[in-house]
Amino acid sequence: MSEFILNGKKVQVLENSSLITYLREKENLTSVKNGCHEGACGACMVLVNGKKMRSCLLTTENVSGKEIITVEGFSQFEKEVYAYAFSSVGAVQCGFCTPGMLISAKALLDSNLDPTEEEIKKALKGNICRCTGYVKIIKAIKLAASIFKTGKLIINDNYTGKVGERLPRIDAIDKILGRAIYVDDMKIPGMVYGKALRSKYSRGLVKKLNITKAKEHPDCIGVYTAEDIPGNRFLGHLVHDWPAIIAVGEETRYIGDTIALIVSKKKSSLDEIINLIELEMEELPPVTSPRMALEADSPKIHPHGNILKTERIKRGNVDEAIQNAKYVVTNHYSTPFTEHAFLEPESALALYENGSIVVYTGSQSVY
Ligand code: FES
Ligand code: FES
Repeated sequence: MSEFILNGKKVQVLENSSLITYLREKENLTSVKNGCHEGACGACMVLVNGKKMRSCLLTTENVSGKEIITVEGFSQFEKEVYAYAFSSVGAVQCGFCTPGMLISAKALLDSNLDPTEEEIKKALKGNICRCTGYVKIIKAIKLAASIFKTGKLIINDNYTGKVGERLPRIDAIDKILGRAIYVDDMKIPGMVYGKALRSKYSRGLVKKLNITKAKEHPDCIGVYTAEDIPGNRFLGHLVHDWPAIIAVGEETRYIGDTIALIVSKKKSSLDEIINLIELEMEELPPVTSPRMALEADSPKIHPHGNILKTERIKRGNVDEAIQNAKYVVTNHYSTPFTEHAFLEPESALALYENGSIVVYTGSQSVY
C-alpha cells in the first residue's frame, strides 16, 4: 500500500500501479497525458515534491510519502496566469503537450521568476511539442514569469475582430489546463478495450498464428485476424495496397503492421491476452530507404515491385539553360530524417448511438 498527497489531498493506493495509470484511470486527471508511456515526450509530467517528473516512469509505490501536483492542483491564480500567458501568445495548438509544459514551467518559476532563455530551454528539455514549436512556449513562460513577479494579472483582451488580428484560440484555455478531452481521455460505461498484436520485424513472413489460448483468457471477448474481415481488407492513401490485418502467408512491411486484434473486458489484461497469441514469423531483410528500394536486387515489397508511380516533370530546356548559365554548381544535397514526434496515442472509441455506430478517433486535436 502507498500513501501520498495528491493536489493537496491524502490518497491511499492499495495495489501498486504505474503512476500515470493511477492518475488517469482512478483519479480522472486528464491534464496528465499519455503521449508515449515510455519517458520520451513529457506529456505526463507531474511535480513530485516540487520536482518535475514523468509519471509514466514512476509507480504509486515510488511516490509513497511524497507530494504530487498536477495542473488540476495549481492555485486559481496560477491557472489564470498560465492560461492567459499561453493563450495570448499563441503557445497552444493541439494542446496535447501543454499541461506537461506548464508543469515544467512551474518547476522552474517556483524558484526563479527571472529565468533566462537558456534556463527556460533547459527546463523544457524533457517536453516535446509536436505542433507549436518552442518559440511561443518560451515567450509564454517569460510572460507568466513577469506576471508572477508583479503578482497582478491584467488581461489585455481588447480585440477589435478585424481580419488579420491575432486572437487566442477559442479552445485554448481548456487545452492549457488539461480539461480538453482527447479520445484517449474518453470513458463510457461498460467500455471494453482493444489492442493490436503488431509485427516485431519490419519485414517478415507470417508463417503460423494460433489464437486458441488467447481466446480462453477469462477477460477475452474476441480475437480477430485477417480471416474475420468480410469485405475489402486493403487500405491506402493513393493505392489500396496495405492490408488492415496481415494474413498468414503474407509479409509485413513495417514494424507496426497488425497481425491480430484482441478485445478485452479490462484494459489491464490486454497485454496478458496478446502474449497468449502464438505467432511464428520468419524475419526477412527489410527495405530501409527509397534509394535501397530502387536497387535492382532489392527485395520487392509489393508483387509489382517497389515503385508506386513514375512521373516526369519537364519545364524548359535544362541542357540549354545550364550551357548558357554563368555559374554551374553541382552538388549532392540531402535532408536529414526528421522524427515528427507523434505524441497522442492512436486511440479510437466506437459506440452504438441512436441506431448508428459513432466512431471517435484521434486527429491531432481534441476529438
Ligand atoms: Fe510519459 Fe511520454 S514521457 S507519456
Ligand atoms: Fe504541443 Fe500540439 S501544442 S503538441
